[in-house]
Amino acid sequence: MEGAMEPIIFIGFMGAGKTSVGKALALALNVEFLDTDEMIEQQTGQTISKLFASLGEESFRKKETALLRELVNNKPSAIISTGGGMPVCKENRTLLRALGTVIYLKASAEDIWGRLKDDTTRPLLAGANPKEKINTILNEREAFYQETADDIICTSGKEIKQIISEIRRIL
Ligand code: S3P
Repeated sequence: MEGAMEPIIFIGFMGAGKTSVGKALALALNVEFLDTDEMIEQQTGQTISKLFASLGEESFRKKETALLRELVNNKPSAIISTGGGMPVCKENRTLLRALGTVIYLKASAEDIWGRLKDDTTRPLLAGANPKEKINTILNEREAFYQETADDIICTSGKEIKQIISEIRRIL
């Protein structure tokens, strides 16, 4: 791709495919891939789980907002995958929309459960009843994801290749 590209941002629930789809799209478009969770881990030198445990969720959310502000200022020509809770706060929704084209990768609760049932890296799903937590949090967030997105792509039951070609059609 030639010249500057407006950032393309993936939002959506944990396990919806933001990182794998983002990486594949970046490869296809030959642009940089950024992941906000990874950037926060690099900035702090701690994993997301450790950050939640040491500083708490509130402090992690502040770091997410600070990072989004930075990204809006820099507007990197990149594909950006975001943490699943990014669009919960109103300021973040405004920042995400200011940053570039926002695509909501939507997956069913069953699919998310299938992908995350053995996962140990998501502090919000740790402890009892992870399946119920997925349903509850997904319901709480659905409107925020939809409100923030320019486009919605369903990822359930689809291979990455198909998702990428759907995304390329709408870009
Ligand atoms: C979170 C999602 C995670 C990570 C953190 C909180 C959330 O990112 O930011 O564990 O609130 O949904 P992924 O969506 O990349 O798993």
